[in-house]
Amino acid sequence: MNLIFLGAPGAGKGTQAEYISEELNIPTISTGNMLRAAVKAGTDYGLKAKEAMDSGALVSDDIVIGILKDRILEDDCKNGFILDGFPRTVVQAQALDNMGVTIDKVVEINVADEKIQQRLSGRRVCESCGNSYHIDFKPTKVDGVCDACGGKTVIRKDDEPATVLSRLATYHEVTAPLKDYYQAQGKLVTVDGQEEIADTKKLTLEAVKA
Ligand code: AP5
Repeated sequence: MNLIFLGAPGAGKGTQAEYISEELNIPTISTGNMLRAAVKAGTDYGLKAKEAMDSGALVSDDIVIGILKDRILEDDCKNGFILDGFPRTVVQAQALDNMGVTIDKVVEINVADEKIQQRLSGRRVCESCGNSYHIDFKPTKVDGVCDACGGKTVIRKDDEPATVLSRLATYHEVTAPLKDYYQAQGKLVTVDGQEEIADTKKLTLEAVKA
């Protein structure tokens, strides 16, 4: 099964994608994680992406389409995959269609803008493996230490309140039109993001299996 997870920054796409990935035993492909790894490694495209990411803008379509295209050809994608954070523009969605990939469902996680700020201000990510936590809703067992790898958990640079506002504006202007794009293909399902992560997981699994 090939899935896309769509939603505003901080709506919980990554959290839900990780859960569904375990349930269906298919990989999650997060372009955000891939770009952050490239920035950390100092690769050519990482250097080009860094400025856009730090300011809350989108990285250029050609860079993102290039890395996605290579990734979905890898062996672990043979039985399906979840795209978390791709596509984010109509140009990217068209490029995906042109790659000959069949998307089964597009799951939109819908959360009001007012709640996003609270979620992102409490988010902590592991600087080693990238795992994501929340100080209230998904705390680590030991404060500041990643449950998965023991790395240090930190605040993501683009989770500063001013940058979050800019990411939200970009989402509404450039990414939200994808809802119409996939609605027209009969693939869009919307899940209302709940207060509790476990409640959203239940609704997401039902939406994927329906
Ligand atoms: P990316 O890493 O994809 O960031 P994003 O879309 O802004 O998404 P987030 O990771 O911030 O949020 P999320 O929806 O996954 O929420 P999460 O599950 O973590 O992209 C970063 C940047 O890379 C972009 O700004 C852009 O520059 C670039 N980029 C990436 N892809 C690109 C593309 N295709 N084209 C161009 N540029 C691209 O949840 C958030 C927090 O809330 C967590 O702490 C979580 O624990 C908590 N939480 C989750 N669910 C709940 C709940 N139900 N109740 C309470 N708390 C919850």
